[in-house]
Amino acid sequence: MPNTALITGASSGLGKEFARYHAAKGGDVVLTARREEALEALKVELEAKHGIAAHVIALDLSEAGAAETLYNAVKTLGMEIDVLINNAGFGGYGHFVERDLAAHQGMIALNVSALVDLTHRIAKDMVGRGRGKILNVGSTAGFIPGPGQAIYFATKAFVNSFSQALDQELQGTGVTSTVLAPGYVETEFAQTADLEGARMLRGGGATAADVAKYGYDAMIRGKLLTINDRALGFMLNWVTPLLPRRMVLRMVATSQSKT
Ligand SMILES: NC(=O)c1ccc[n+]([C@@H]2O[C@H](COP(=O)([O-])OP(=O)(O)OC[C@H]3O[C@@H](n4cnc5c(N)ncnc54)[C@H](OP(=O)(O)O)[C@@H]3O)[C@@H](O)[C@H]2O)c1
Repeated sequence: MPNTALITGASSGLGKEFARYHAAKGGDVVLTARREEALEALKVELEAKHGIAAHVIALDLSEAGAAETLYNAVKTLGMEIDVLINNAGFGGYGHFVERDLAAHQGMIALNVSALVDLTHRIAKDMVGRGRGKILNVGSTAGFIPGPGQAIYFATKAFVNSFSQALDQELQGTGVTSTVLAPGYVETEFAQTADLEGARMLRGGGATAADVAKYGYDAMIRGKLLTINDRALGFMLNWVTPLLPRRMVLRMVATSQSKT
């Protein structure tokens, strides 16, 4: 059983549940996100409930150099990371040209650049030790282009692709890279992305606890790619690729509209 997990975006949603699940298995955690109070509250909860050690490193991972700062802070704590869960991320509703360029760039900085930076540093250490597990939180959004959230879908296409290629490169090293591609999960995500009221959310979503457990267990098994929503997974793998591309774009645009 791997011991110490570094979990990004641990202050809410899936990240919080990854931390709870790992701690329940007796593993220590390093919790990171911007909201320090939420991380401290989770630390108190996990230490009291499971007798593990939890460490809080609060920072904005979208800032230049933040992943390096995080990595150095972990080293200063004298910790080795056995499990890296790249979970922090956010979306943003609206047409590309109408949203601020800075908002797009911030999303790319967090969803893509910070993930690459942190993975490079920690995967290298894991390969040196001959063991380690990486879980990247991609999305079913990464399977298709996303009019209405063009940059978010593109960042998740990057994560889905990168994680799988990395896993192939890591074969034989003792380190694995798994990508979890969830469908809609009920977290703070929709509110942060200004998606509330969008058609795609009307049927409700999975719980963060269920999806985190699903993804974590797949990571432990060393799975390459896992989708928690089987019907959506079937649709994206076996139906969508056969449809005319313009039809798919219109369907995605409609699913994200609020009317
Ligand atoms: N919910 C869904 O339907 C869904 C579906 C597919 C994939 N996902 C992916 O799942 C992951 C987790 O999202 P969630 O659904 O759990 O949403 P969430 O509840 O909004 O959690 C997002 C987490 O990311 C952290 N975060 C955001 N900006 C950050 C920044 N600049 N620096 C550091 N941390 C930051 C947040 O913490 P602070 O605000 O405290 O910084 C929070 O802990 C994301 O990568 C998302 O794209 C979600």
